[in-house]
Amino acid sequence: MTAFRSHPLRTPLLGPIAVPGDKSISHRALIFGALSVGETTIINLLKGEDVLRTAAAVAAFGTQVEERSDGTWVVHGCGVGGFREPSTVLDLGNSGTGVRLLMGVAATLPGVTFFGGDRSLSGRPMGRVMTPLEKFGATFVSRDGLLPVAVLGAKAPVPVIHEMAVASAQVKSAILLAGLNAPGETTVVETVLTRDHTERMLRGFGADIRVEETEGARRITVAGQPELTGRAIHVPVDPSSAAFFVVAATLVEGSDITIERVSTNPLRAGLFDVLRDMGADIVESNAGDLNGEPVADLRVRAAALNGIDIPASRAPSMIDEYPILAVAAAYAKGNTVMRGLHELRVKESDRLTAIAEGLTACGVGVEITEDNLVVHGCDRHIPGAGQIATLHDHRIAMAFAVLGLAAREAITIDDDSMIGTSFPSFMGLMTGLGANLAAPT
Ligand code: S3P
Repeated sequence: MTAFRSHPLRTPLLGPIAVPGDKSISHRALIFGALSVGETTIINLLKGEDVLRTAAAVAAFGTQVEERSDGTWVVHGCGVGGFREPSTVLDLGNSGTGVRLLMGVAATLPGVTFFGGDRSLSGRPMGRVMTPLEKFGATFVSRDGLLPVAVLGAKAPVPVIHEMAVASAQVKSAILLAGLNAPGETTVVETVLTRDHTERMLRGFGADIRVEETEGARRITVAGQPELTGRAIHVPVDPSSAAFFVVAATLVEGSDITIERVSTNPLRAGLFDVLRDMGADIVESNAGDLNGEPVADLRVRAAALNGIDIPASRAPSMIDEYPILAVAAAYAKGNTVMRGLHELRVKESDRLTAIAEGLTACGVGVEITEDNLVVHGCDRHIPGAGQIATLHDHRIAMAFAVLGLAAREAITIDDDSMIGTSFPSFMGLMTGLGANLAAPT
């Protein structure tokens, strides 16, 4: 755990920025490759700690995972139903996606699987996946719905119809993955749409997956016990990681950056639309497709922002982006109201608290009313000089590193160690662009 200071940046951010691969898609590429027959090659896999934990976990289930010298990853899958009982505890570190998706796999795998995680993950609710997964016939042993968890996979799983109680792509994905190893059809009904990487990618691996839109809901049905086939995956750039540079370039005068092949999946990249609504200059070009995921190049130039009112309905498409959106709101003119943020309480930290305390420490006015956050914009004059408690949360650390670039006085951030879970090259990329993120003297 090393503290660092983020100093005001007097020079613009310029040029192309090599933001790494998408975390959600990287986890899924490894897991779906492992559940397929034959070889899956993965280009641009995110080599963050979270994803490496998932790689180790799928290897513990009996698949072969390796990184080639050219940086491509190769998974030799065992096929649906081909996983063996892991002989060790699967420690997913900080990764909610890794642990919840793999609990789905374990729920219909006969045998016992033990899951653990770090201090942050061990405080996050697992009941939201365990309760629906019990319907398949699995049994879970835990204390208070928290890790560590033992899963006794169903010996004779039954298919499930589940109406989502919480808007969570992790829960939806866990159920669909459990359904793969159950006979018949498993259906998930969402009334609030969440990121659909699982649906898009599973289809690419050969799953029979049907998505029906009914009034105000989406029904996703997967046929059980398919033979999935290994394939090549090119992971798009992570919009959640790109977000830190998009906001930094917006805030620092004279900036003009490009980031290529960013995922623009509408259920995922909502932040860019919200920033545009606030006045940001973000232009998309070269729109294309990477294994079923829409991508585009982004060009971002510095711009003044205005506060806006962001309804709860926009939250799922940018749920991980509120820390950096709050930083943009601090810089904007006028108030920004962000509604419906209850899920932020159960992320890698209680992000509502971490954001509010961090902004307050930097001289920015903030209010929390129920699950809404109001940020009183400083119209480009953020005092700074605060001490930030990241609560071991990578996105809080990176968001406040960006705030420091556009503040009047440097701020101190207590811990850089978690940044490696999702964005190991963040500090190097930022300092390469001229940022001073040195340890306090
Ligand atoms: C993710 C879904 C989101 C998000 C997380 C990644 C995924 O979590 O916060 O970082 O890959 O499915 P929830 O499903 O809990 O909202």
